[in-house]
Amino acid sequence: MAVTRTFSIIKPDATKRNLTGAVTKMLEDAGLRVVASKRIHMSREQAEGFYAVHKDRPFFGELVDFMMSEPVVVQVLEGEDAVKRNRDIMGATNPAEADDGTIRKEYALSIGENTVHGSDSEENAKIEIDYFFDEDEIVG
Ligand code: CMP
Repeated sequence: MAVTRTFSIIKPDATKRNLTGAVTKMLEDAGLRVVASKRIHMSREQAEGFYAVHKDRPFFGELVDFMMSEPVVVQVLEGEDAVKRNRDIMGATNPAEADDGTIRKEYALSIGENTVHGSDSEENAKIEIDYFFDEDEIVG
């Protein structure tokens, strides 16, 4: 299996509860390596642009407001089959449906305040990494 990259966000509900380290430990224990990381406070423009694919969904305004509400930690993760590995440890979008042992089962508060974002494909991982990081910020 090839070593690939994915993009992750530790969301405002987690940074607010001081869970950056706990979430990152679960990612690392799942075999992912943090090769870039920065704590940012997203602007409205950044949040709307990042989630543009959801702009016609009823929860879009709520989602953007939430992502701007507190700092987030954006990360590039590297590992074998990184997109799938990350999605497996994240668990289902809705924490009520997340498996035991996943980040969202352990920490998510609701479908909106669900602790982490992870890319859903290698193609989107590249787009999302490029949205937040310059290549020289990624150190594998
Ligand atoms: P994420 O993986 O960041 O991608 C889109 C986000 O939209 C998703 O996680 C959820 O946090 C959010 N989302 C999806 N469905 C709903 C919903 N019904 N209500 C509020 N937020 C939602």
